[in-house]
Amino acid sequence: MRPRGTGARESSDLPAPGAGCRPYRLAVLVSGRGSNLQAILDAIAAGTLHAIVVGVFSDRAEAQALQRARAAGVHAEALSPRDFPSRAAFDQALFARIDAVAPDLIVCAGYMRLIDATALAPRAGRIINIHPSLLPAFKGLHTHRQALRAGVREHGASVHFVTPDLDGGPLIAQVRVPVEPCDSEASLAARVLAREHPLLVASLRLFAAARVTLDEDGVHVDAHALTAALQLSCNDAFA
Ligand code: GRF
Repeated sequence: MRPRGTGARESSDLPAPGAGCRPYRLAVLVSGRGSNLQAILDAIAAGTLHAIVVGVFSDRAEAQALQRARAAGVHAEALSPRDFPSRAAFDQALFARIDAVAPDLIVCAGYMRLIDATALAPRAGRIINIHPSLLPAFKGLHTHRQALRAGVREHGASVHFVTPDLDGGPLIAQVRVPVEPCDSEASLAARVLAREHPLLVASLRLFAAARVTLDEDGVHVDAHALTAALQLSCNDAFA
């Protein structure tokens, strides 16, 4: 592990990531099952994502995702929010640990805790989240229930930059999933989850190739401003 440095930009000490260069360094934040983390680990192992997971961090020691990380030989640790007097104090401790592994990108993959604005500000453009809805529709929890109650015919998942606005940061990419008349919350969740995994991996491939940036004008892909989220097609490529 690299020594701790002064802040969130430690990975800039390293050579640039990208094709033919060093693997892109990912820190992954998790709270539960960890199927999205597993999709990342599997893509790396299969050689379809030129990246390395340099650490997995959780607010829940019992998260299955931590076991998945350890089984893959990845550094994994949990901090309990109960051991800290405030959200800001918890996040300060958490992100000090994350900084120590010098990630290029921090990926919230089923991380169920709000992140304090003071932790986000110095890392703007370096934290993304995957959310199981077609944002801006159905923010927050129970998105599949929300979708069924709203009677929508199409649901899906979104990858977006994390800002203090809950599930409201700039969109990067989405995948669309039909809602079937007979769907239950569980069947819809399963169908969306199966598409979340390729969406996240395809999005990370863009980051690993240094093709995505965020600045004050918004998201850019290949230096072109995104006017709408990229859409993952059924062959797992962006249309
Ligand atoms: C996923 O649906 C993700 O989009 C949401 O929480 C769920 C986590 O699943 N934020 P897993 O822990 O990756 O299996």
